Amino acid sequence: MPKVLVLYYSSYGHIETMAHAVADGVRSAGLEADVKRVPELVPQDVARSHHFKLEQDAPIATVDELPEYDAIILGAPTRFGRLPAQMANFWDQTGGLWLRGALIGKVGAVFTSTASQHGGQETTLYSLMSNLIHHGMVVSGLPYSFQGQLKLDEVTGGSPYGATTIAAGDGSRQPSENERDGAKFLGQHVASLARKLA
Ligand SMILES: Cc1cc2nc3c(=O)[nH]c(=O)nc-3n(C[C@H](O)[C@H](O)[C@H](O)COP(=O)(O)O)c2cc1C
Repeated sequence: MPKVLVLYYSSYGHIETMAHAVADGVRSAGLEADVKRVPELVPQDVARSHHFKLEQDAPIATVDELPEYDAIILGAPTRFGRLPAQMANFWDQTGGLWLRGALIGKVGAVFTSTASQHGGQETTLYSLMSNLIHHGMVVSGLPYSFQGQLKLDEVTGGSPYGATTIAAGDGSRQPSENERDGAKFLGQHVASLARKLA
């Protein structure tokens, strides 16, 4: 049975919540999903003074285990409109896998979180995707058959480039039902693609 990795970085828990919603979507489509995260790189004292959520259940992933998966779905919050250093650092260690073409043909997709509605969601999604594309992966967006991304009667994330949420400047807003549905839909969609390609 194809196996899916949901790999994330989250400072305050919004992307952690979205990662579990993505994994729920994968499992609801009948595939196995592992949720793992990349290591924190910010010094502990800085992370504590910035109130990072340092305790998270997901185990830390290693680069060597990536080839075991048929699909990899990446999630990370924006940092100035692009992916955070924690996630970039992880992918910067995958040169050996790239050389062997170890991820070619696997399915990929991405999700993100920003403080504000227009704080760089799609540029961040693109910067996440770029890692997957250079590895020769088959990258999917979030199809418009997830109609929740067309909602205009509430503030909401959701983009054809991937699932998204909006955290607010002080991090007080949590992923809405519609945004969690978008994340779940992305997981289901990737699972169905992984099954077809397998
Ligand atoms: C250094 C830094 C840069 C950030 N840059 C942006 C930004 O460009 N646009 C934006 O909307 N939010 C920005 N944010 C807010 C984060 O994206 C927000 O805290 C995050 O989406 C929450 O997700 P998390 O709980 O998974 O960490 C920034 C946060 C930090 C710490």
